[in-house]
Amino acid sequence: MRIVVLESGKGGVGKSLLSATIAYLISRIYEKRSILVGADPSSKTIEFLLEGKEIPEYGWIEYLTTDYLHFEEIITESTVSDNLFVAYSTRERILHGEFEDPNVVAEKISKFKDYIAKTGDFVVIDAPAGLSVDHLLYTLMFDAYVVTTPLRPDIEGAKNFVYTIEKEARSFGISKPFKGLIVNKVVNEREAYSTAEELNLPLIAGIPYDKEVEKAVERRRLPSDKSKFVQSVYKVVEHFGFKAPKAQVNIVDALLKIFRR
Ligand SMILES: Nc1ncnc2c1ncn2[C@@H]1O[C@H](COP(=O)(O)OP(=O)(O)O)[C@@H](O)[C@H]1O
Ligand SMILES: [Mg+2]
Repeated sequence: MRIVVLESGKGGVGKSLLSATIAYLISRIYEKRSILVGADPSSKTIEFLLEGKEIPEYGWIEYLTTDYLHFEEIITESTVSDNLFVAYSTRERILHGEFEDPNVVAEKISKFKDYIAKTGDFVVIDAPAGLSVDHLLYTLMFDAYVVTTPLRPDIEGAKNFVYTIEKEARSFGISKPFKGLIVNKVVNEREAYSTAEELNLPLIAGIPYDKEVEKAVERRRLPSDKSKFVQSVYKVVEHFGFKAPKAQVNIVDALLKIFRR
């Protein structure tokens, strides 16, 4: 059971696409029940996984800020893969919401964790960009990863994000709140290493810049399983404890079986 949250100081770094791809791969290749929580209402990526499906009336933020919704009521089965579920959000803020009550939120998160522990699910939360008390909550409550590109403004955004959250986390006695860094849109591995060094976070993976991604996104699809992008997301999924799938067909084994008959 794992609940992972992807965060970033800046938008446009690939957080939503990575979250959707991770959730998709875990359900499709590893055949595990996986849930994408789209906590960023500005993201359109989630709709790729819900083609033609009606989005439930209530979403993640209503679930966290009220005491009458069950998690099952806010998830929808995806149309692109079995075992893939999506929770959507129409609002961004948790702790600045109209109905904010930290006690309700704390209790809901603990219920959510119990529910996930029981069902053995994998959850990836696509957090909104920016920096707020919500981000401290996400970071402290779940396994938090930072996403950035190697571009200057994105690194600066990530640095400010990491610095501020780390400082706040220390007041809770937590010295290393982030589990690692994903560097997206890299043109070589070295960029990924130097970015991780600069942010002083463990590098989980460098994801290549891939033209196919933009074409797929324009068609409102996830990039194909064979794209450089998806192939490198396997590394992230492996980090979450899922082993790389075996080669789909082992020709030599298949031929030997025939000859031995
Ligand atoms: N590895 C990549 N290669 C090329 N383009 C990418 C890559 N990752 C993301 N993109 C592009 O960047 C845009 C922003 O991605 P998105 O997932 O929406 O970012 P965020 O959620 O961080 O705002 C997408 O429209 C996508 O086309
Ligand atoms: Mg997004």
